[in-house]
Amino acid sequence: MSETLSVLDRYAVAGNPVAHSRSPEIHAAFAVQTGQSLIYERLLCPLDAFVETVQAFAAAGGRGCNITVPFKFEAHALAARLSPRAQLAGAVNTLRFDAEDWFGDNTDGAGLLRDIEQNAQRPLAGRRVLLLGAGGASAGVLGSLIGAKPAEVQVANRSVDKAESLITAHQALADEMGVKLSAASLQDCGRGFDVLINGTSASLAGAAVPVGPEVLAPGALVVDMMYGPAAAPFLNWARSHGAETRDGLGMLVEQAAEAFEIWRGRRPDTAPVLRSLRQSVDEKPAA
Ligand code: ATR
Repeated sequence: MSETLSVLDRYAVAGNPVAHSRSPEIHAAFAVQTGQSLIYERLLCPLDAFVETVQAFAAAGGRGCNITVPFKFEAHALAARLSPRAQLAGAVNTLRFDAEDWFGDNTDGAGLLRDIEQNAQRPLAGRRVLLLGAGGASAGVLGSLIGAKPAEVQVANRSVDKAESLITAHQALADEMGVKLSAASLQDCGRGFDVLINGTSASLAGAAVPVGPEVLAPGALVVDMMYGPAAAPFLNWARSHGAETRDGLGMLVEQAAEAFEIWRGRRPDTAPVLRSLRQSVDEKPAA
């Protein structure tokens, strides 16, 4: 058995907690589909020993990691080389252990964008987008949203200063793309957005939906970056106000596909993987 393990490339999702992570089944499905031989594991990292745990994994034959909460910022500091989008996000969700050094990327924004534009068939060009939250989740996706050339992206956050810092970091890209970028408070974030994206963790704290229905344009698309019970209050609220909704499961599968391509040079077909994951999450929603 150990002989077999030693010849297979090893990958893992590194985080704390990781027991709930769906990444192992997603990457196992991608590997089967593309005929790649690899192992994808869960790597539980003590809160004070992320770097040591990942280094030990690499030393034991690991080829790369996905990074999840709360280590995306530490992973950013750890990578010797960063993709432009990881630099902009200030966070890394994908590490590849190259022979010469470690490469860090962030595939969250590309995953969200692909789910909105390809899977939901909602191109963002020319649209008005409202992004709620200015923490790690929003930082990871804002650059990709701007890159899709919507007319406008407004970032609304409980603490407005954090929204302002986030837009300052992205202003040059927004200028280059001709996108209007602004920061707002949750109480005063305007009306009539075509796409509303929830990047807050408010629902985990049991808090109410932090904005009013006036933010939705008729027929708006509402996306929560979480899935399962954590996404339900926000998406139920959105549906009750006539919006089309999407949870974060599509984003999860699409960001994984992007990471898989970075590691293996092959792009998997996400549709069947998303379908079967959807079925398993609906049957066993505790994730
Ligand atoms: P993550 O990595 O999941 O984004 P984070 O960096 O801690 O986690 O960010 C959490 C986000 O959810 C922040 O935008 C936070 O707002 P503040 O910056 O004002 O703290 C937001 N958030 C958390 N609880 C919230 C609540 N009850 N109402 C509104 N926003 C909330």
